[in-house]
Formats: sequence, structure tokens, C-alpha cells
Amino acid sequence: MAEIMSGKGITKKIGNKVILSEVDLAIEEGEVVALLGPSGSGKSTLLRCLNGLETIASGELFFDGNKIERSEKNWQQLRQEIGMVFQSYDLFPNKTVLENLLLGPVKVQKREPKEVEREALDWLARVGLKERAQDYPRQLSGGQKQRVAIIRSLCMKPRLMLFDEVTASLDPEMVREVLEVILELAKTDKTLLIVTHEMSFAQQVSDRVLFMAEGKIIENSATPAFFSGPQTKRARDFLQSLDYTNL
Ligand SMILES: Nc1ncnc2c1ncn2[C@@H]1O[C@H](COP(=O)(O)OP(=O)(O)OP(=O)(O)O)[C@@H](O)[C@H]1O
Ligand SMILES: [Mg+2]
Repeated sequence: MAEIMSGKGITKKIGNKVILSEVDLAIEEGEVVALLGPSGSGKSTLLRCLNGLETIASGELFFDGNKIERSEKNWQQLRQEIGMVFQSYDLFPNKTVLENLLLGPVKVQKREPKEVEREALDWLARVGLKERAQDYPRQLSGGQKQRVAIIRSLCMKPRLMLFDEVTASLDPEMVREVLEVILELAKTDKTLLIVTHEMSFAQQVSDRVLFMAEGKIIENSATPAFFSGPQTKRARDFLQSLDYTNL
């Protein structure tokens, strides 16, 4: 498998505080990686660095084998290849679901509207939202909006998708329907890096786990190995604190 993205020695500071300390990571094409760790360990910050939303103090990032030059213009281009879905789904309220989905591919990527529309409708059907294409975001539930937000990212055909706790702001009964979409994506050849607090989901969806604590990646293990026997006390404590019962 070829490496799609990697980082070497990523260090991020805010003021004097070190948020990420010499983080190394590499993501292979087609992999599904879960990025786990306690609150405040730096998971969101790391994802934001991988998407150019944070500037790093030192370290290097590579995409598709090339070193990423740090200019905003360059990142704008790269963000078409590195999609990110957040906790909040900032769909445009005055545009329909379909219009929201077409915007990036047609306006930014200059793709053929009919072709994009076909793809968008196809994705909507696959996540059970076929009938919602002409609705406005306010007519959808939180779980439905988040599914649309995921499809919006997919319609840009990114080579790598970053998910940051996409179910964190949803009512419990809507969590499953959103996780199901990501489980479906994981079965395709998509490359995913997923931050989640849902441990059974992480176990189910991922091939590999990166475990963070205090701004460092302290474990990098195949998913079954991580859940059956984490190497560090920090990770064991973390799983136990979540009442994760597989230990
Ligand atoms: N704008 C900021 N100013 C100061 N400190 C910040 C800022 N953003 C993040 N931090 C700090 O950086 C550290 C890492 O934060 P981050 O949001 O990346 O953690 P996280 O692992 O995503 O946590 P959570 O699981 O709660 O989302 C925390 O200690 C946080 O307080
Ligand atoms: Mg976070």
C-alpha cells in the first residue's frame, strides 16, 4: 500500500503551551485509522494541522509523497483532496440539500453539474435520504444534516477524509445512523482518519488505532491488538474509564 499522508515531528504551540509534541504519523491509502485519546490530548488539533487549519511551529507534512509547502493557496488546493467533517454541520441554510452538495464540486472543482448531481443523488439514496434532495437543512434532523455533511465532503472526491467526533452533538438516537454511513465508507477503498469517543464503533470501523495522550501519539497498533491489550498504562486507564468492557 502506498502512503497517502504523513507527518514528521509535528509540533504545535499556542503561546508557550505545547499542544502537539514531535508527532509522527503515516496513513496508507485505503486504511481506516481511529485516532483515540482523552479529552485535551490534541486529537482535534492534529486533524486541523493535517488540513492546514492550524499552523505548526515545526515539523513537516507530506501528501502523496510530496512535502506540503505552507501557503494558504496550497492548502486551499489540498483541502479538495483532504476532506474534513466536524461536529457541527455548517450547511448553507438558504440552499437545498442538493444545492449544498453541488456547490463545491461545480463551483470550485468546475465539474460537470449533471454528473455531480447523479453522484450526489446516488449517495443520498445510499444513506436513506433520497427523498430529501430538495429540502432545506432546517427541515432535517441533526442526524440527517450530518449525513448530508458527510456526503458533501464525499462529493469532492477527497483522497483522505478526516472525521472529528461527527456524532458528538447529536441526540443518542441519531448517532447510529451517522456511524452506519461511516461504516459503509470504511468498506469501500476510502482512506479515513476518525476521531471518536465511541469505542465499539472505533473497534468495528478501524484497521489501526493511534492513541494520543498529552500531545503525543503513544500507541500505534492494529485495532484488535489495541483493544485486547493496550501497551501503555495510559491507554489501559483510558479504556477502563470509558467502561470499555473488552479488557
Ligand atoms: N485556541 C486555543 N487556545 C489555547 N489552548 C488551546 C486552544 N485550542 C486547543 N487548546 C488546548 O490544546 C489541547 C488539545 O486540544 P484539542 O482540542 O486538540 O484536544 P482533543 O483531544 O480534541 O480533546 P476533545 O476530546 O475534548 O475534543 C487542550 O489542552 C486545549 O486546551
Ligand atoms: Mg476534539
